[in-house]
Amino acid sequence: MGELKRFGVSLPAELLEEFDQLIYEKNYSNRSEAIRDLIRCELVEEDWQVGNEECAGIVSLVYDHHSGDLLDRLTDIQHDFTDEIICNTHIHLDHHNCLEVIVLQGRANRLKKIADRLTSARGVKHGNLSLSTTGRGLK
Ligand code: NI
Repeated sequence: MGELKRFGVSLPAELLEEFDQLIYEKNYSNRSEAIRDLIRCELVEEDWQVGNEECAGIVSLVYDHHSGDLLDRLTDIQHDFTDEIICNTHIHLDHHNCLEVIVLQGRANRLKKIADRLTSARGVKHGNLSLSTTGRGLK
């Protein structure tokens, strides 16, 4: 962290009470650390909105591996985006269900497109893109 600056914030008392309760439940040691994280979250969201920023993200997919040719289709999609797909992990949850976690890095727009193709594949029970960051733009 660089130089620290202080600033005052005015809030309705009830809102501050709710915030304090929230940061207690989330185990933050103080308000400053919680506010820093909120700001960083907004900055990461903004990077994803802008679209051409370099971002990192994680796609998770839950599916039944007996579902037709789904495994082949998911593999085909991933072979179309080898520049952005860093790695993936396949976990056999039970006899039928698999969890696949795919780590992505690249331009936000492109990562969203990859995530859309994977999560919309027929047979995927649950798909999610978790928006993260390369961390380079965050202090
Ligand atoms: Ni499996």
